[in-house]
Amino acid sequence: MNVTGSMGIAVTVRPCCRLLVAQLFSECPCHQRRAAAAFFFPRCPHDRRRASKCPRAPALSLAPQRRSAASWVRAALAPARDEAAVSDARRLSTAAGPVPGVDRAFERIFVQGLAAVEPLVIERVAEKERMLAVEETGKVEEVEEEQRAEVAKAREVSESEKEAWRLLKNAVVEYCGSPVGTVAATDPAAEALNYDQVFIRDFVPSALAFLLKGDTEVVRNFLLYTLQLQSWEKTVDCYSPGQGLMPASFKVRSVPLDVSKDEVEEMLDPDFGESAIGRVAPVDSGLWWIILLRAYGKITGDYTLQERVDVQTGIKLILNLCLSDGFDMFPTLLVTDGSCMIDRRMGIHGHPLEIQALFYSALRCSREMIVVNDGSKSLLRAINNRLSALSFHVREYYWVDMKKINEIYRYKTEEYSQDAINKFNIYPEQIPGWLVDWVPEKGGYFIGNLQPAHMDFRFFSLGNLWAIVSSLATPRQAEGILDLIEEKWDDLVGNMPLKICYPALEYDEWRIITGSDPKNTPWSYHNGGSWPTLLWQFTSACIKMGRPELARKAITIAENRLSNDKWPEYYDTPTGRFIGKQSRLYQTWTIAGFLASKLLLENPEMASILTFEEDLELLEGCACSLIKSPRTQCSRRAAKSHVLH
Ligand code: GLC
Repeated sequence: MNVTGSMGIAVTVRPCCRLLVAQLFSECPCHQRRAAAAFFFPRCPHDRRRASKCPRAPALSLAPQRRSAASWVRAALAPARDEAAVSDARRLSTAAGPVPGVDRAFERIFVQGLAAVEPLVIERVAEKERMLAVEETGKVEEVEEEQRAEVAKAREVSESEKEAWRLLKNAVVEYCGSPVGTVAATDPAAEALNYDQVFIRDFVPSALAFLLKGDTEVVRNFLLYTLQLQSWEKTVDCYSPGQGLMPASFKVRSVPLDVSKDEVEEMLDPDFGESAIGRVAPVDSGLWWIILLRAYGKITGDYTLQERVDVQTGIKLILNLCLSDGFDMFPTLLVTDGSCMIDRRMGIHGHPLEIQALFYSALRCSREMIVVNDGSKSLLRAINNRLSALSFHVREYYWVDMKKINEIYRYKTEEYSQDAINKFNIYPEQIPGWLVDWVPEKGGYFIGNLQPAHMDFRFFSLGNLWAIVSSLATPRQAEGILDLIEEKWDDLVGNMPLKICYPALEYDEWRIITGSDPKNTPWSYHNGGSWPTLLWQFTSACIKMGRPELARKAITIAENRLSNDKWPEYYDTPTGRFIGKQSRLYQTWTIAGFLASKLLLENPEMASILTFEEDLELLEGCACSLIKSPRTQCSRRAAKSHVLH
């Protein structure tokens, strides 16, 4: 067993964790293992009568009163922090000199990665210095004018925004006296179910709103506490999913202390999908966690957090899960249905776009954040290879526009050979009737899913928007997606931004694909409902592409309704006219998405904490052995010019 190599940790920790529990409880029944889990789980003693006695979670170490087995094992097995590598990385962020002992291709990629991570605080300091210089040269008026504009901006906070901030702050959850996240909804009229939990994906817009307001504590705590949950032993009927899995959500529970009935202690109780409806693993959680970690570093300039050994290990565990070999033929990530924002059966098993866009983004974030040392070199190489293959695959095979659909319409089928044009053996009869009239002359989009002999032509908003934000889309494709949204505004925005997917599944399709799900009836919820939380992703994409006016138009539509409608989770009908049938009110990510969008529009440069630019070197880097083979041509090489132009 390799306990020092970073990639070895995942392999090592898990059996130890099991061993530890197995030694304590020699038989397997799940409830006994759960009891073992509770024993080691982070808990915070809490005196019911004197709540103030509850100790504050230490800001840096976040050491729980009782350490979880995971962190206990992790601490014992984690490789010693490589200070030399860390300081080298820092040095390299400003210098481009060669790194001794690192191979050249890798070195180039790493330096390039770091160059992109310039902290915004540095930009702010530079801005202050500029202001001083302006004053010194007598341009005081200019400064005063800017200040007046700032004050005016501050005064412009609308009543909706004020209400939204109040609600967002009310949604904050504390653990041991420290803020650790926001609950999914605070609807007093609806049964809580699991909406009183902190969902990883739901917290991202909250985090963004807080970060943009300068409130970083809750985000830092969230990142560190969810990290502790990552490695906890989790089971569905005695089967455990992979160790790097991040929970879908967690709850802060108060449980009576064993010794005294009067005293309670707080504990974090994660749900990895074992309680969630449908029992699906939340694949997107770990990807969102990595994306948020980078955003936190970029906005605060506090890179010590991402350099911590436990945080580095956390990133590697997630990547271990995503990059492990399987039976798959594609570079896209293979997942079950409902493994992301759409967490119910909706025909998005296989290689759904949303997961691929988040995966690409998380890989690019990781490439920037992973500290270079001997243990991480091969991982970084694997990341680069995957990024390169993934972007090619999605750009080439998921993209449709008028021209491409016409090509598919004329596809030959049953082509055997490496030169096949119709690689996935798509039967043209699959082109749905609605698409023929719907696809505009200008613009295009990435289809929702691609499998052998199957293209899911539905338009999924999150995947398309995140493809823009992360630069998974080429600049031309990114433009094309926004063109299509503008062109199809009534269908995709209508009375409430933004349709989760278009169009809805109806009749037999609804019956077969959703399993007759009464929540996902046509034009409701995940099946063509409108989700205001998607506004912040739309805003980020518009800002990145220099089209903020589109986002402004969508925000105005939302602002006119959200507060009156009590901040619903989603809207129904083809144009989003009605509040969703079973929609929660006071849904936190609706509120936070609105606030984050407003703040991003006011400070468009801040969108860079989420975005990436096109990386031309990734297009060069083809690991394919066909390049050298005289027998066959590498199709990526042949198609590259097509992707670029
Ligand atoms: C619903 C959504 C999911 C969200 C959860 C909490 O299940 O589908 O994406 O995380 O509610 O808001």
